Amino acid sequence: MAQPILITGGAGYIGSHTARHLTANGAKCVIADNLVYGHREAVPIGAVFELVDLADRAALKALFGKYNFAAVVHFAAFAYVGESVTDPQKYYANNLIGTLNLLEAMLGAGVKKIVFSSTCATYGEPQYTPIDEAHPQHPINPYGVTKLAIERVFADYEKAYGLRHISLRYFNAAGAAADSAIGESHTPETHLIPLVLKAIKGETPPIKIFGTDYDTPDGTCVRDYIHVEDLAVAHQLALEKLGSFCGCLNLATGVGTSVREVIAAAEAVTGKRCPVEIAPRRAGDPAKLYAAADKAREILGWQPRYTEIKETIRTAWNWEQNRKF
Ligand code: UFG
Repeated sequence: MAQPILITGGAGYIGSHTARHLTANGAKCVIADNLVYGHREAVPIGAVFELVDLADRAALKALFGKYNFAAVVHFAAFAYVGESVTDPQKYYANNLIGTLNLLEAMLGAGVKKIVFSSTCATYGEPQYTPIDEAHPQHPINPYGVTKLAIERVFADYEKAYGLRHISLRYFNAAGAAADSAIGESHTPETHLIPLVLKAIKGETPPIKIFGTDYDTPDGTCVRDYIHVEDLAVAHQLALEKLGSFCGCLNLATGVGTSVREVIAAAEAVTGKRCPVEIAPRRAGDPAKLYAAADKAREILGWQPRYTEIKETIRTAWNWEQNRKF
């Protein structure tokens, strides 16, 4: 029987879409999640669920004793940028120590392959766009620092212990499964697209546009929105490439979309007006973040299928109208 893959944080947003994709393609997945932010309902049928916190070294050791894992896909992390500034201890402890504990259990069991959920937040304020993987990394918040530190830990563990690792630096993950079975569900929600859709539904107050005086074509921030199902596919490809490649890859569309363009696209998809309010800039928001993802194309043979923001928002809207959790 095929060896299982461990997916930490597999009940979270990107983790659950990846678990579903891997399971649908025949992988045996074991999901380890503490359910602090994840959703039990997001675990795909066919995957095994284990309630495990990465702070618990004994539980991790037992997990690796119970299953003969081929590799790990590591999503489990706290990911609220603002909160990481006000409560960095929470982020360093959970993201960094949790990962060290995971690596300890992996190496103890002789598991030496990991695909990791990294982020464009490791780059900090961009010095140029599109951002490629060689762009200097100077994260401007503790969340980004934890992710960068983990990338560096992998490089050291590769030299010392032969760890095989691929860190995938996502830009702005967006959208939901094409069949709306799973989607984005954060509490609290801070991300633009779900908040725009909730404002359109009348569930929340008008969407606040954080700053209209940026040096961008329409004055609002530009981001690179990459569909969560495209991210899922990239993880599968990365697992297959761990034998021949170690390192970091951007996952993005290469297309920048402004906050106003997101709102206009959401209005076009839903056929409804989005109530908006102009608000001051949000601290720590760079004007423009979009990527060159040529390296992922070259190394993984990966190509995002969702290149139109409207199509990405359509999947988020279908989910938002009939969400299950
Ligand atoms: N925005 C608004 N109003 C809102 C929410 C967001 O105008 O109510 C704007 C933001 O200012 C930003 C853009 O919409 O310009 C996107 O904001 P998100 O909060 O959706 O996402 P971020 O760009 O802040 O994403 C960042 C990093 C990711 C990281 C993620 C963690 O780019 O790498 O936060 O949640 F993973």
